[in-house]
Amino acid sequence: MALKKEVEAILNEQIVKEFDAATVYNGMYIYFEMELFKGFAAWFKDHVGEEMSHAGRIIQYMLDRGVAPEIPATRKPKTSFPSVLDAMKAALAHERTNTAGIHECLKVAQKAGDPATVEMLQWLVKEQVEEEQWAEEYVQMVKKVEKSVGGMYAFDHAVSKRVKA
Ligand code: FEO
Repeated sequence: MALKKEVEAILNEQIVKEFDAATVYNGMYIYFEMELFKGFAAWFKDHVGEEMSHAGRIIQYMLDRGVAPEIPATRKPKTSFPSVLDAMKAALAHERTNTAGIHECLKVAQKAGDPATVEMLQWLVKEQVEEEQWAEEYVQMVKKVEKSVGGMYAFDHAVSKRVKA
């Protein structure tokens, strides 16, 4: 069964969101490196790859369905933020945008009667639960410790231990 036009369009929109998150996280990686928060930097560097892998799942799926996906142009990300908390809040906002995008894809695929696309999206629905969880946790933790240099570096170190080897 050919991919319906509305499903193709919404999947292309989600590819843009995943690329956008990768670009933003690249900017955050640079910001945290410059601020000497090496653990946060490593986390966001790793997450550039995570976001590209999310986009990659959709790209491969569209190819498997015989459709050429659209790859968006990259834009220049912010590499400085007023504070660590602002950067973490921006990451959380991006995760929420991506979750909303995946849910929208799911709605369109269900309405189009496309069970294969619905099935492909299930993994991303679950993934977004984890994605929002870490982003929410990082915002809450930074709120708790941001006034203490020692606390911030202890949290940065804890985050470095969570980065996949
Ligand atoms: Fe691809 Fe972090 O959402």
